[in-house]
Amino acid sequence: MMDTIEFAVIGGTGLTEIAGLEIIHREVVHTPYGEPSGQFTHGQLGAKRILFLARHGYAHSIPPHKVNYRANIWALRSLGVKKIVAVAAVGGISAAMAPRRIIVPDQIIDYTSARAHTFFEEGLTSVTHIDFSQPYTESLRQALLAAGQSAGVPLIAGGVYGATQGPRLETAAEISRLERDGCDLVGMTAMPEASLAREAGIDYASYNVVANWAAGKQGAEVISLDDIYENLSASMSQVRSLLTALVC
Ligand code: HPA
Repeated sequence: MMDTIEFAVIGGTGLTEIAGLEIIHREVVHTPYGEPSGQFTHGQLGAKRILFLARHGYAHSIPPHKVNYRANIWALRSLGVKKIVAVAAVGGISAAMAPRRIIVPDQIIDYTSARAHTFFEEGLTSVTHIDFSQPYTESLRQALLAAGQSAGVPLIAGGVYGATQGPRLETAAEISRLERDGCDLVGMTAMPEASLAREAGIDYASYNVVANWAAGKQGAEVISLDDIYENLSASMSQVRSLLTALVC
């Protein structure tokens, strides 16, 4: 019998592979919603079997608004995954969210538009609404935070994630508006990923790595991609330690 796979990691910018993951095989999954971002990597992290998917494709070529979130989540469900750990780069809005910090957010405000965002629209016997009061699964959030303790990686517990459409970064005025709305960080991928996971009955929580100060914050003038990549690559070894501590 095939091992059941508890954890899947969806890696974002800066995490197209996990160092130390012993790759067992890669699997192509076709879905009724089209093609996922790429093959699913079955791997062994310490003692545990996990699945890994690079959200933007292994060549990092799929922009946030073009990710086929439905196909990714549908495929993970069909592979039997129970928990998704989403790793994603963000911009920092509130003062504590400095570049290279890692946050386990607890809330989301969705500013995205025109993304295929639900499984519940066709062939329904009745209209379905999921509860999404707490968009991240609290028990999994706690496990992510505990992994920080055991790996000795400082984490920020909680924060409101503003999900923007991208692929452009925001204007300074847009970031001021997000701040007035109560957002602490801004990114482009948590929605509809989180709500589709909820629709699919899969636990979902996230490590958000701050890649840059959001537009207009803390003297950010021009946000450079070079700085973003530098900050992300500086933090990714910590993310790998967190993931190992989490699953093993
Ligand atoms: N805005 C939106 N998404 C992001 C940012 C940002 O400043 N940095 C990394 N992902």
